Amino acid sequence: MPDDQSRRVVCSDARDRLVASIVVRAFARSLGFPPRACLELAIAAAELASNAVRHGGGGVLDVRVLRHDARLGLELECSDEGTGIADPDAAVRDGWSRGRTLGPDDPWHEGLGRGLGAVARAVDELVFAPAREGRHVVRARRWLPRPRA
Ligand SMILES: Nc1ncnc2c1ncn2[C@@H]1O[C@H](COP(=O)(O)OP(=O)(O)OP(=O)(O)O)[C@@H](O)[C@H]1O
Ligand SMILES: [Mg+2]
Repeated sequence: MPDDQSRRVVCSDARDRLVASIVVRAFARSLGFPPRACLELAIAAAELASNAVRHGGGGVLDVRVLRHDARLGLELECSDEGTGIADPDAAVRDGWSRGRTLGPDDPWHEGLGRGLGAVARAVDELVFAPAREGRHVVRARRWLPRPRA
């Protein structure tokens, strides 16, 4: 796969998280990320796609190769037309879901509040961009380690 490719995954139902993870894993492998990093990026893609569907009413995930100086990286930009994340600092905390910390009696099938935490751990940069033109954007980037001199 050429490293200047980009790809858009439409996230409109729960199954699209699988497409997102497959696409991102393939990109990451083609760029030379080690297997564990490929898996972590695939999970991050699935979680962003899941959130766009579950909390944002549907959206898109744009996957892009990044080049900065001699470095290569991967960008996952997920945007939806929902209201956005009210409190990003709280949202990345494990166990925080739909505006509160979950307790032992909360139903697990509505989410564990662990998706964004997994995204944050998988990437080097995680940005919750201010809503623009009615779109809410989360941007995640991971860079390949610099080759040793
Ligand atoms: N795209 C989004 N739009 C609006 N709110 C969001 C979005 N993504 C996340 N959130 C808010 O941040 C909270 C935490 O997200 P996170 O992905 O960590 O957990 P979850 O989706 O609730 O559960 P899980 O991902 O474990 O299934 C969500 O419950 C939701 O309130
Ligand atoms: Mg989630």
